[in-house]
Amino acid sequence: MCGITARIGNDGSLEDLLVSLKNLEYRGYDSAGIAVQNGAGIEVSKCEGEVSELKAQLTANEHDGPIGIGHTRWSTHGPPTDENAHPHTGCEGRVTAVHNGIIENYAALRESLQDRGHEFTSDTDTEVIPHLVEERLNDGLESEAAFRDAIGELEGSYAIALMIDGDPAVYATRSGSPLVVGIGEDANYLASDVPAFLEFTDRVIYLEDGDDIVVTPDDHRITDGAGRSVSRPTETVEWEPGDAEKGGFDHYMLKEIHEQPVSLRQTIHGRIEGEDVVLEDFPPGTFDGISRVQFVACGTSYHAGMYGEWLLSKWGIDANTFIASEYAAYPAPVDDETLVIGVTQSGETADTLEALQSARERGARTLALTNVIGSTAARTCDDALFIRAGPEIGVAATKTFSSQVATLVLLGERLTRDITGEPTADCRERLESLESLPDHVEGVIENSRAASISHRWLGDNGHFFIGRGNAYSVALEGALKFKEITYEHAEGFAAGELKHGPLALVTSDTPVFAIGTGRHSKRLESNVREIQTRGAPVIAVTPRTATSLTDTADEFLSVPAAHPDLVAILANVQLQLIAYHAADEMERSIDKPRNLAKSVTVE
Ligand code: F6R
Repeated sequence: MCGITARIGNDGSLEDLLVSLKNLEYRGYDSAGIAVQNGAGIEVSKCEGEVSELKAQLTANEHDGPIGIGHTRWSTHGPPTDENAHPHTGCEGRVTAVHNGIIENYAALRESLQDRGHEFTSDTDTEVIPHLVEERLNDGLESEAAFRDAIGELEGSYAIALMIDGDPAVYATRSGSPLVVGIGEDANYLASDVPAFLEFTDRVIYLEDGDDIVVTPDDHRITDGAGRSVSRPTETVEWEPGDAEKGGFDHYMLKEIHEQPVSLRQTIHGRIEGEDVVLEDFPPGTFDGISRVQFVACGTSYHAGMYGEWLLSKWGIDANTFIASEYAAYPAPVDDETLVIGVTQSGETADTLEALQSARERGARTLALTNVIGSTAARTCDDALFIRAGPEIGVAATKTFSSQVATLVLLGERLTRDITGEPTADCRERLESLESLPDHVEGVIENSRAASISHRWLGDNGHFFIGRGNAYSVALEGALKFKEITYEHAEGFAAGELKHGPLALVTSDTPVFAIGTGRHSKRLESNVREIQTRGAPVIAVTPRTATSLTDTADEFLSVPAAHPDLVAILANVQLQLIAYHAADEMERSIDKPRNLAKSVTVE
């Protein structure tokens, strides 16, 4: 898990490289480094810590040059140290590489390189790459051939960018890890993700697994592993550079919470026509022959999958959700009537990709529900449906969750009609309510009392989140968000489960957030009373119209009275704000919580 970047131009590359690395920090931020060719050799600067620490170490003139590569790291092999930070060089310092992914056979490669006299300076798997290329250059191979031949030795998943001293180009490749090319006016770029260079160009080429590329200041050439030319289209991305900046908010997370009315409008735009859903590549009949749906996902996306499962089950469809890392190891039975949906914001989560692959290999049809066009999930699944939330930089997923669930409401309608031959029972009311959802979210954000409530009810003994039905998936999501950015203990429960054990943990210092959708109200109220009897305060998150719940609870956060299937999405926005304000009060690193990264490309 890391971000890699390169800038290939005729003038100084340092400034652009640092901007790109900053924009890639959501992929990892435990160490950072750059290498530039400056005419006198390759200059490498790297250190443990964030990009700002690297920047502080650099003196522009000493470290600038027209061609450079950069890296921001989230450790997999070797702890975050100066030595393990990328770029890595061979013995002679003439070959330098950055890498995202894992070289599975690195131990054997390293041993044989050491047997041949190569000396290593880090614990990383990456370091074998420059040594392998250096060896081939010394054997007399030209740069491109040396690079291709060395890559042929690697097993695992990787995106690599590599420079050779005196050669005005960057050599790169991808296999299982993302890599995109940016075509600029004055320079060309490579990066793990588009926001890295969006300030410099919006013209992008998405590389495919197995593509090798040579990028020069004015040109690029893509080939397959055998050196045959390959053509990939240049696309214009619609994201504005400002989309990837904080836009006046203190944190990306807060900005992204506030963006939800806009992102939700994008998600549903043009996809609802009266009682019908219009999903670009999914006309009626697309899912004829499907009889069972499985969701595979991780973290927040798993909670969105659970929400989708609940909807589909209610509509009579056989649906289940699986934690992707478990599914990959212990797959559920599938057949050619099974649709396996990978819910993944980034489209690059290794566990989810592996689960999808396992389903595909066993004959299931696969669909990626993702935010990233050109992501591995989108390209490797049979179908892809985009949630259109725009770039999400904060490590804690917020707007992508709302857009995932909104997209699942639409996809669920299409699936149900194709599988059962009938629209869902109250589809008109639900779709109308979905069209109003962006306005409702706006209302929640404008009127939220989450800041004062999170201050008033900060517990000393953990925080619980409870709900029933689809509100259970939001209870889990509310707890995940809270623990992820506050570092405080938080748990989500099905409301009826508390009395089967977890109630023992409840004290007067355990605030409990109870999510009410308007369904099963009496049962939820009983659960609230059980909690209050143990002295814990309960904060209801529910429409104002749910008066008996709001009257029972100690405190309440109101949400608009949307369709009961959608109320939990609104409650989730309140819980995002609760987590945000609690973490802000505790002065946590909200956008980059400790030990976490935005895109988890390791298993
Ligand atoms: C939590 C969070 C993670 C991700 C998970 C899956 O706020 O963002 O739990 O949801 O790592 O990521 P994607 O959706 O990219 O597959």
